[in-house]
Amino acid sequence: MLNLLKDNQNWVENVIAKLTAKMDAVSERSKTKIPYTTKNGKHDNQIETDINWWTNGFWGGMMWLMYHETGAPNYKEIANFTEDALDLCFHQFYGLHHDVGFMWLPTSVANYKVTGNSESRKRAMHAANLLAGRFNLAGGFIRAWNDDTASEDTRGWAIVDCMMNLPLLYWASEETKDPRYAQIAIKHADTALEAFIRPDGSVNHIVEFDPFHGGVVRTYGGQGYEEGSSWTRGQTWALYGFMMSYMHTGKQKYLQAAKRVAHYFMANIPDNGVIPIDFRQPKDPAYEDSTAAAIAACGLIEIAKAVGEYEKDVYVNAALKLLKTLDASYCDWTTDSDHLLMKGSAAYHHQDIHISIIYGDYYFMEAIFKLKGNDLFLW
Ligand code: GLY
Repeated sequence: MLNLLKDNQNWVENVIAKLTAKMDAVSERSKTKIPYTTKNGKHDNQIETDINWWTNGFWGGMMWLMYHETGAPNYKEIANFTEDALDLCFHQFYGLHHDVGFMWLPTSVANYKVTGNSESRKRAMHAANLLAGRFNLAGGFIRAWNDDTASEDTRGWAIVDCMMNLPLLYWASEETKDPRYAQIAIKHADTALEAFIRPDGSVNHIVEFDPFHGGVVRTYGGQGYEEGSSWTRGQTWALYGFMMSYMHTGKQKYLQAAKRVAHYFMANIPDNGVIPIDFRQPKDPAYEDSTAAAIAACGLIEIAKAVGEYEKDVYVNAALKLLKTLDASYCDWTTDSDHLLMKGSAAYHHQDIHISIIYGDYYFMEAIFKLKGNDLFLW
């Protein structure tokens, strides 16, 4: 139990009232879409542009969170619509990579957990098998992406984001009582513990392994500023991802890993609570990423729930600082724009900087419901 102070409880209730009013309007407008971002305040639609896009599970996940909170049937209907739309990805197959966890945990696994829908279970099992099939036995890692060209050979590439896909494998083992899926997840997490987390608690984004013999070949800066830098969303994928491996396995080493990354992250939160794209980026331009703040808050809250009474406040207070900054300065609470969080950034060297991104909205919402103690844990 978090036992928030009364002021903080009131703040959470106030944010939930704003969320409910906002989502009531936005869900109706976007009920036949799978959004990634907004253009002029209106959601785009990945069903028309890129059905395989890795973020296509988050809108469905938001609908399940809202359904859990309000019980309003329209949220369930929209979630079902997005889940059906994702079936095309299975048919196309070649567009899928390790992010099948991000896509089918908040949609099919969520649906199955909430309603027991057997079709959803089948989809989620299919996705879990696709993820398991990406495991590299020699290197003990799950391959991230599919490129295999002369200019970009990713056969040996693993990325820290994959820690967030592992819960699909834990779920599959919990569901079937077949340990193979969890065995793969644990092996990947163990490899990531060694190869991604640096001694100071910061993490690499991309690690290339020798795909034939195993062993680290080199690291890449990936979506961060440069090799050796500290892409903030990558830090949060590790923070929350190792926490999830702890929650599913009970292994203390994953909790310790999540805490190490969390301590590094908290030590780097600026006084104003604004999270940059990379903790080691140049001061100017002052690029920001609101999505990293929201994801970090989710992980910090889970750490707070796992540690003892004497330790938890440091994590709760850091999460509150991040979320209150988002509420006050980054949330668009008007009901005529479709996005919630502003100033999300896809990557440091990318044109999609300071835009709204759907997973920012998703994790902000998840964090708020966690604080309320009414979290529908979709991972
Ligand atoms: N998983 C890709 C990203 O965080 O942008």
